[in-house]
Amino acid sequence: MAIRKIREEGDALLLKKSRPVTEFNPRLHELIDDMRDTLLNAGGVGLAAPQVGVLRRVVLVMDTLKEELSDEEQIIELVNPEIIERDGTQTDPEGCLSVPGVYGLVERPYHVRVRAQDRFGKTFEVEGEELTARCFCHEIDHLDGHLFTELATRILSDEELEEYRNKQREKEN
Ligand code: NI
Repeated sequence: MAIRKIREEGDALLLKKSRPVTEFNPRLHELIDDMRDTLLNAGGVGLAAPQVGVLRRVVLVMDTLKEELSDEEQIIELVNPEIIERDGTQTDPEGCLSVPGVYGLVERPYHVRVRAQDRFGKTFEVEGEELTARCFCHEIDHLDGHLFTELATRILSDEELEEYRNKQREKEN
């Protein structure tokens, strides 16, 4: 296992479409294991294979709403993921490990259901709401070469971001 370099905005590879995974072999497992290390090391909530320079349809999403789980346990591995249901909307600040320090307001569905394969090729479905739904959408967008900055209605200043975070904390308390 190893930490891989995260590509940043301006790298043309991030704008390319990723190809489906067809072989569920040790090479795929190594990629996923490295992505896990890279995500945990970077302290993000999701990571897509193109962010580490691999144009394959693989993403990791952390189900951060499951607070009882450890960071490691929160990671959902999705191969060839597809959103099959979307409900409601939410508009909140969103960021990306490939666009460090930038946060923008992005509208996303409040709830999504995703169909994917696991690292062995077995199909499963998973759902998420709030931040987890946002993360599924954001990571799957990476597989089609889209960054959140294309969708953001507004990029937030540091002060605005702080305000949003304070509001969020108030909601939680
Ligand atoms: Ni991202």
